[in-house]
Amino acid sequence: MSPSIQELKNKLQDLYQSAEQDLKSARSSSELYELKTHHIGNKSRFQKMMKEMKNLSPEEKPLFGKWLNEKKTALEEMYSSLFRELKNRELEQKIKTEKIDLSLPGPPSHKGGLHPVQLIIQKTVNIFKSLGYSVRTGPMIESDWNNFQALNIPTDHPSRDLQDTFYIDEAHVLRTHTSPIQVRSMLAEKPPMAILAPGKVFRRDNDVSHSPTFHQMEGMFIDTHVSMAHLKGTLSYFVKELFGTNTKVRFRPSYFPFTEPSAEYDCSCPICGMKGCPMCKQSGWMEIGGCGLMHPKVLELSHIPSEKWEGFAFGLGMERLAIVYYGIPHIKLFLENDIRFLEQFSFKGES
Ligand code: PHE
Repeated sequence: MSPSIQELKNKLQDLYQSAEQDLKSARSSSELYELKTHHIGNKSRFQKMMKEMKNLSPEEKPLFGKWLNEKKTALEEMYSSLFRELKNRELEQKIKTEKIDLSLPGPPSHKGGLHPVQLIIQKTVNIFKSLGYSVRTGPMIESDWNNFQALNIPTDHPSRDLQDTFYIDEAHVLRTHTSPIQVRSMLAEKPPMAILAPGKVFRRDNDVSHSPTFHQMEGMFIDTHVSMAHLKGTLSYFVKELFGTNTKVRFRPSYFPFTEPSAEYDCSCPICGMKGCPMCKQSGWMEIGGCGLMHPKVLELSHIPSEKWEGFAFGLGMERLAIVYYGIPHIKLFLENDIRFLEQFSFKGES
């Protein structure tokens, strides 16, 4: 015969009392925890009583369910307050007995560091900041308009092939250079302006000296009278600050649709002092980027009147600069995340 509700109620009362007695007798918080699990945990007799409910009549079930819950809640509350008490007591005891030796050395800590490319970005930003430039950023997914068209690169322009592009859809690309940030700044601000825009760029290139993602830093200066001499002076100042006062800059004629005239610029190889070494391929010069005077059409496309304003722009290849600055033999090292390589650039010793 299955038990009556009165019998179950008595059993519940017994279980409750023995649980209460046990919980109150616990001497430590861990013992208390074990007792709680024993009495009201998933596999406890208390929990098993739930199953006995099935034999009760429909009127008795809710009544018994309510008692069961009340008892369980009461035991849980009892547990919480006893647990707090015991924990406090244990803490007080620990404070009284434990002695801390403040002279012991702490556990060894591993110092993190910035990636060499980020270090070079910081150094470059600091140098240009001292000339009055300030930093702007832009998204890595750019509109075709900002990345190409506003820079005087129409849809069918052959130079699009030079920058083999990752297309997101017909109107969006992974930016192939930081030059779209020129466009964003011109549209958002009024000249005169001197901006610097570091960022990741993407091209469908992958061989020994090219990786599909790398970093550039764009520079743009717009004022009323701006010439190639200002551009060359600015870049000379930069390489002297970064590599030392003996470093020289050389311009070679080049072509970009958004600058006229355009140049590629090299700095004298700081590794061999122009004597010729494997880094500069025995030429004495290291290529660091492209530059030129801003094409009037580019100014106009961003609503800057070109009869009043002139400007120059330049792009720096940051991996290249890091290679030269730190004497790193291979561009792939930047992407391999080899801790033995990265460790050498911790903050220690960096100015
Ligand atoms: N955007 C050009 C490149 O990625 C570099 C550049 C920037 C050239 C600014 C001229 C002016 O190669």
